[in-house]
Amino acid sequence: MKKIILSLCVIAGMVSCDNQYESNKNQIDKMETKDINDVHSYAQFDQAYTTHLFLDLVADFDKKTLTGVAAHTIQNNNASEIVFDIKDLNIDKIITNDEGKEVKFEIGAEDKILGKPLTVQITPKTTRVEIYYSTNPTSEAVQWLSPQQTADKTDPFLFTQGEAILTRSWIPIQDSPGNKITYSARFKVPDSLTAVMSAKTTSHKNGEFEFEMNQPIPCYLIALAIGKLEYKSLGARSGVYAEPSMMEACYNEFSDLEKMIDAAEGLYGPYAWEQYDVIVLPPSFPFGGMENPRLTFATPTIIAGDKSLTSLIAHELAHSWSGNLATNATWDDFWLNEGFTVYFEGRIIEELYGKDYADMLSILSYNGLLAELEDLPAQDTRLKLDLEGRSPDDGMSAIAYDKGCFMLMMIEENIGREKFDQFLNSYFDHFKFKNLNTEEFLAYINEKLPEVKKLNLEEWIYKPGLPSNCPKIVSAKFDKVDANFESKIYLENPRSTNDWTTHEWLRFIGKIDTSWSITDFEQADKLFDFTNSGNSEIAAAWFEKSIRADYKIVYPQLEAFLVKVGRRKFLTPLYRAMKETGNIETARNIYAKARPNYHFVSTNTMDALLK
Ligand code: BES
Ligand code: ZN
Repeated sequence: MKKIILSLCVIAGMVSCDNQYESNKNQIDKMETKDINDVHSYAQFDQAYTTHLFLDLVADFDKKTLTGVAAHTIQNNNASEIVFDIKDLNIDKIITNDEGKEVKFEIGAEDKILGKPLTVQITPKTTRVEIYYSTNPTSEAVQWLSPQQTADKTDPFLFTQGEAILTRSWIPIQDSPGNKITYSARFKVPDSLTAVMSAKTTSHKNGEFEFEMNQPIPCYLIALAIGKLEYKSLGARSGVYAEPSMMEACYNEFSDLEKMIDAAEGLYGPYAWEQYDVIVLPPSFPFGGMENPRLTFATPTIIAGDKSLTSLIAHELAHSWSGNLATNATWDDFWLNEGFTVYFEGRIIEELYGKDYADMLSILSYNGLLAELEDLPAQDTRLKLDLEGRSPDDGMSAIAYDKGCFMLMMIEENIGREKFDQFLNSYFDHFKFKNLNTEEFLAYINEKLPEVKKLNLEEWIYKPGLPSNCPKIVSAKFDKVDANFESKIYLENPRSTNDWTTHEWLRFIGKIDTSWSITDFEQADKLFDFTNSGNSEIAAAWFEKSIRADYKIVYPQLEAFLVKVGRRKFLTPLYRAMKETGNIETARNIYAKARPNYHFVSTNTMDALLK
């Protein structure tokens, strides 16, 4: 009886039931106490948790603030308080639906990584908590860009980055990937600008935009961008947002997008999010890509002119299954998001461009993995991480991505592709709109595929290093590059490299070691002009080798690159190479000029590196 009355309350408290997920879902399970054990959130999910968030905010580009209200519809387990995560936010007042007026709240002590707990006094009757607040210009998730920092240089720009635990710095929220919520939002922005979110735009007029995300997502996927944006459709359910001057190049670069979606669906089942768009952000975006649902955020450094770097889009698209449907329960289980995604990315690439092409990417990843295995402390080379007391950022290494992927490739190699694909289909279907941790993955795969018991998955997951059953990939294309490099055929016959793709060039540059003289650098540069390469991957790899060999010619281009691009994956190896070769003063001088252009994600890492 108690259960029925409570369920009725829950139904009454729900904001919308108009989506497939809500209507299918048994209302009773909204009653459950949430069993989330996440060391990176202050929230007490057994007391009360958000089921839906409504945001109503004004974006002020002069003050660099977002101001308004975050209204949480909550599942209340007879609680007298609810705890949210906040970081660098100003909380003005909080109103609950049952009191109808301001209620008491308390803000706890600050932790440098986690921020602060915001504890709000509620009653067992509370179903809605409205938090009136504003962000600060320093709020870590949000980067406010001046017109100078954009491609067109006419208007300011804003974007947010939530993963892993930055959402709390722009929204007061229970910031754990283990709780999935729906959201809706209303934004007021300057008239000439367009706002987009990881959600469906339901209305826009005169600087007022409304959004709805009716499928439950972890809150690290709530994302916003505002700027002078154009949109161009790429197919039935995909398109690209970019600044006007970038549009043509972006449109051409992503012309295979619709094919990628078809390939992904052919592998692992229907695309669940209706629309798949990509927004190309200004170059300070700290990542290559971010899988915000319905709208991948991407760096402009993948616009190479020849589609050679669009495997990154395959990766973010793959997250629409791995990560966005089946989500890691905590950041210690991050490999469940990224390892599956790298594997899935490889499969999409293989479908579109063939096995030779996919193999080249796997070998490049494998070499990156070997390098990181040398650098990382042993305990951080286990797939299941232990990030208590540390930033989840520490888990963002090749371990989650590539060791994770190689374990899945190993399973495929042993049990056969057909069977493994069947398993993955059932896995995504079973965990869609849910969370899982590593132990639940192990239980699930052991049940569905008992033959994996002899494959030592526990060793992959709980032991450091790379197990001996790791697949070995070979590539005839790379063998040719190696032979060419070693015998310096390219010097006599530069045309022997004519059919090389970006990946072959990365293999070539990757082979440069301390035996190379400055003359070797000069000769290669004269033939192939790496120093002025418009391909960001090639340029960054070449700059790193050049710094380490003291091939000083590259410095003007290196500096220009570092001042323009804020993608951390490029910055870390370049600044580190300068630091390790006695050029830390040069590194600091360049960084002083570049830092104002970087997002917090990048400054946080570079500050520590160059301190
Ligand atoms: N989800 C990640 C980005 C991320 C991870 C942001 C952890 C914050 C914390 C995204 O899908 C990703 O992996 N991006 C990669 C590209 C990919 C091709 C490996 C990147 O940005 O380099
Ligand atoms: Zn990823």
